[in-house]
Amino acid sequence: MKVGLLGAGRIGQVHAVSIAGHPESTLAAVSDVHAPAAEALAAKFGAEVRSSDEIIADDSIDAVLIATSTDTHSGLIEAATAAGKAVLCEKPVDLSLERARACLAVAQKNGQPVMIGFNRRFDPSFAALKSAFDAGEIGKGELLAVTSFDPGPPPMAYVKVSGGIFRDMMIHDFDICQWLMGGTPETVTAKASSLVDPEIGKAGDFDTAVVTLTYSDGRIATIRNSRRAAFGYDQRIEYLGSEGMLEAKNMLENQLVKSTAAGVTGAKPMHFFLERYMPAYAAEWDAFMKAVASGARMPVTLEEGVAALAVAEAATESAKTGKTITL
Ligand SMILES: NC(=O)c1ccc[n+]([C@@H]2O[C@H](COP(=O)([O-])OP(=O)(O)OC[C@H]3O[C@@H](n4cnc5c(N)ncnc54)[C@H](O)[C@@H]3O)[C@@H](O)[C@H]2O)c1
Repeated sequence: MKVGLLGAGRIGQVHAVSIAGHPESTLAAVSDVHAPAAEALAAKFGAEVRSSDEIIADDSIDAVLIATSTDTHSGLIEAATAAGKAVLCEKPVDLSLERARACLAVAQKNGQPVMIGFNRRFDPSFAALKSAFDAGEIGKGELLAVTSFDPGPPPMAYVKVSGGIFRDMMIHDFDICQWLMGGTPETVTAKASSLVDPEIGKAGDFDTAVVTLTYSDGRIATIRNSRRAAFGYDQRIEYLGSEGMLEAKNMLENQLVKSTAAGVTGAKPMHFFLERYMPAYAAEWDAFMKAVASGARMPVTLEEGVAALAVAEAATESAKTGKTITL
């Protein structure tokens, strides 16, 4: 499969490794509105530098991976599916739920497969938790707790165009909840603060947040996000069911445990997403490739991307108004 990569920033560089490293895909072309970024990445992998429009118009390219800034995703999904390409697009689908819904309608009409990059589903620990849950090993799922703390906040320039903590960061956790709980919550209640960096608060965003989701049958999920964890990237899931509990813990920098008279100590969690989720990004690309080749349903659909955004929008409203939002 010949692949065009749109966006050569932080995550585009990660995806280039997966595309070029997969036995069935070739990184044919790279675009970025910031030309030096595209040139550097293309040179590394022997790909061509083209504009996003040129890549989409090229009939010899089978698929595009969209890793551009969030406000460009919907337009690029629409253009790429109209040109007959299979698409893997980074989260979130858009900054606006209304725009994302319009994009979904266009993509459905165009009939090409679209996958959204909720990479955490492909993390080996989270995937093992999901398999054990689906196999009925803890009975009926009742209480889900998701923890997601970044080691530090992104640059303010990124924060200002990110759509806020719920659309940008907690969207991953809303996806984990729909993946493990099934379906849409009935209510969304968010509490949020700006404790890490006052500039984030001044920009109208939050850096610390807790959300409670309730489901029509009484099940509950909680999510905790912070843009600062002094010890690294904290990514854990705890799922309590009628017959037991599943826990996916942090991946540590190494497995050494030191026991002395002073106490028992171990390594920190892997520093951030580039370290923790590298195997997940490769597995995500492999799952996309297999689904395109077999014509199977995409492992993460555009509909699921839009559904997660609807929860993010409700959480944003709840945090700003102090009210519980019923979906
Ligand atoms: N799944 C994940 O773990 C993950 C991690 C980081 C970012 N993301 C998502 O990926 C997207 C990019 O984030 P990032 O951190 O790489 O940002 P970034 O700013 O580092 O990179 C984005 C790049 O896209 C380029 N760009 C913007 N519009 C373009 C266009 N129309 N055509 C070509 N290039 C264009 C920019 O010049 C920039 O180089 C965001 O939507 C973000 O939410 C996902």
